[in-house]
Amino acid sequence: MARLSTQRRVQQTHISSHATRTGKVEIADIGTGTGAWLPELATEFKDKRFKFTGLDISAAQFPADPPNGMAFAMHNILSPVPSHLLARFDIIHVRFLVLGLSSGSWPQAIENLHAMLRPSGWLQWSEPDFRNIITLPLSSPISPATSSLLQTGRSTILSLVAHGTQRHNLAFHDSETISSHFATAGFTNVTEIAFASDRVPETRLAISRVFAKGIAGLQKMICAGNGEEAGGQWGDEGEGRKVLNCVGEACERGVAYWRLELNVIIGRKSGI
Ligand SMILES: C[S@@+](CC[C@H](N)C(=O)[O-])C[C@H]1O[C@@H](n2cnc3c(N)ncnc32)[C@H](O)[C@@H]1O
Repeated sequence: MARLSTQRRVQQTHISSHATRTGKVEIADIGTGTGAWLPELATEFKDKRFKFTGLDISAAQFPADPPNGMAFAMHNILSPVPSHLLARFDIIHVRFLVLGLSSGSWPQAIENLHAMLRPSGWLQWSEPDFRNIITLPLSSPISPATSSLLQTGRSTILSLVAHGTQRHNLAFHDSETISSHFATAGFTNVTEIAFASDRVPETRLAISRVFAKGIAGLQKMICAGNGEEAGGQWGDEGEGRKVLNCVGEACERGVAYWRLELNVIIGRKSGI
């Protein structure tokens, strides 16, 4: 995906800065899930000195048979850092942890990642910005019904984000302050870059469909084991769920898409 390629280019700059070292270059992806990000990078950094590690609180999605040079292990980003992970990595990458971290826990996570980096190592963290989500038509002219659906879709997603934040302590807005936590944890050279999800026409619909699946997952998460929520607007029969399903179907038909911004924050641990 072009969105991811651009992120990767940001990352590569820093990996290349370590490539001249004679020893091992260790790269970790935290909250790795299926480990999808690692092979993308491993294909471009084939030198045996590069070691890739995927860490996640759950092993459920780890690949059964990881390629040479790539390893997976369980680790909770919020737990005290075990000695074998201290000052070990040259590059740490984190992406899309927003539904996994509760509000207020991010400073601890960033402090732990700082401890896992070697001096002069880099941390790159990417999260969506939930303030500017919008539903847009993919082509014109649009029917009055689609126009009305897109308007309602936008207010509904904003209300779902507000509900998740207020009632479930979800960290949608914590991602807005990541860079300040980088600075507090001692990172230098902290930069933040925003990428628009629709800047490449060929991939905007695919990214939007991934987001639509995330929205469906979020509603299920809110309702799981909670009778009041399951009977409310985000439950199977709820109004909010119906609107978001309709927008999801419009995305599937190629009529509309979700547009959002992705914030990429980068910082360097001082020392050599
Ligand atoms: C939405 S997935 C993102 C997967 C991957 N980073 C990507 O971009 O494809 C979020 C992942 O974070 C993991 N996770 C949640 N809380 C975590 C924690 N406290 N420590 C480590 N991983 C965590 C989940 O198990 C899940 O695999």
